[in-house]
Amino acid sequence: DDERTFVMVKPDGVQRGLIGEIVSRFEERGLKLVGGKFMQIDDELAHEHYGEHADKPFFDGLVDFITSGPVFAMVWEGADATRQVRSMVGETDPAESAPGTIRGDFGLDLGRNVIHASDHEDEGANEREIDLFFDDEELLDYERID
Ligand code: CMP
Repeated sequence: DDERTFVMVKPDGVQRGLIGEIVSRFEERGLKLVGGKFMQIDDELAHEHYGEHADKPFFDGLVDFITSGPVFAMVWEGADATRQVRSMVGETDPAESAPGTIRGDFGLDLGRNVIHASDHEDEGANEREIDLFFDDEELLDYERID
């Protein structure tokens, strides 16, 4: 069934000029872009988005990094979109990500790992993250032609 999934090019991906490459990969896969926003994450949003990691030793660094420059937040729609996107993104640690995945091709560092995608094992993650970053009227529907 069609579902929507939240994805974000992180500040390192923006700085390295990877937005277009990443958007192209999802477009070519056949997923449909229904929301996109070039934005700066503030401290409050960073804490909400990464709340589940609040007790981790890397939390402060994670918040500093994600607020350090603009990100490109997106919502992609398609059959089994969350799993499709996750398999294209790779593992959290780029060193464990296969070549051909976004992190496997462009990432070197566990913290600066180019892209965020909603966790498919966390059932509420997509809805929560989409709501956090987008208003309903910012998600647009249209027919995708392949
Ligand atoms: P992301 O999928 O955006 O969600 C949480 C992020 O925390 C993750 O990507 C990594 O970038 C980061 N992260 C996870 N583990 C570590 C770690 N051990 N050290 C630094 N950053 C980490």
